[in-house]
Amino acid sequence: MTKPSLRYLFAALLLAVTGSSDADLASMIEDCDGCHGTDGISQWTDMPTIAGASVFLLSDDMYFYRDRARPCATSDYRQGDTSRPATDMCAVAAKMTDAEIEAIAAYYAKLPFKPARQDFDGALADRGRAIHDQECENCHADSGRDPDEDAGILAGQWMTYMRAQFTDFIAGKRSQPRKMKVSLERLSADDVEALLHFYASLQ
Ligand code: HEC
Ligand code: HEC
Repeated sequence: MTKPSLRYLFAALLLAVTGSSDADLASMIEDCDGCHGTDGISQWTDMPTIAGASVFLLSDDMYFYRDRARPCATSDYRQGDTSRPATDMCAVAAKMTDAEIEAIAAYYAKLPFKPARQDFDGALADRGRAIHDQECENCHADSGRDPDEDAGILAGQWMTYMRAQFTDFIAGKRSQPRKMKVSLERLSADDVEALLHFYASLQ
């Protein structure tokens, strides 16, 4: 599907469910893309790509942020009008209604995910693959690539962003399924590093 038709579809959807105008829609997308990159594909290693994840995951994350149930890192805008004041995901989500969250999740879920081009260590990546297959593949299917899974896309996500998420999970600052917590608790710092290189290697 081409971009203009997607945008049209999203506009129609948003209008139907929220009464928000085309202009509201355009400015909301511009706001997200200002940090996450054009069409939700990030070029910055600390910023997650949001295109192509499932509607469930994207909307769920926004509700977590709105409830402040997930840490929010303050961030500058990366493109467009970069003089906009820095903000964070909790503040972004706080301004959105449920219908807007569902509509914007549907929009980014339909855009294609693009794995990040980034450096990795091959030996560490091999070790990471073995750990992933044993501990993580059950929920993060197809080496963490499967966008139908409601656990997000790990393969090809940026390493700096992922490292920060591991830190938050391990510190208990971000909620996670009980079984994932059990898996993460089994990992050493070296195991985590190996996993990061494995996910980065999937390009
Ligand atoms: C000022 C910059 C900024 C803006 C604007 C912004 N984001 Fe974010 N977003 C971030 C940062 C930084 C993170 C990762 C760190 C964190 O969780 O705080 C993030 C994380 C996310 C995540 C979690 C991704 C994952 O894989 O778990 C989602 C989903 C998301 N943003 C969606 C959106 C949407 C939708 C919009 C527009 C309505 C938006 N963001 C606007 C900076 C921004
Ligand atoms: C029982 C299922 C389950 C297992 C096992 C599991 N995870 Fe998860 N994982 C999830 C779910 C569900 C989420 C989404 C949490 C949310 O709603 O934000 C997630 C999210 C993540 C995220 C955040 C992705 C993002 O974009 O922010 C990372 C990183 C992650 N898992 C890594 C792992 C690793 C590494 C393992 C193995 C050591 C693992 N998980 C095992 C279910 C699981």
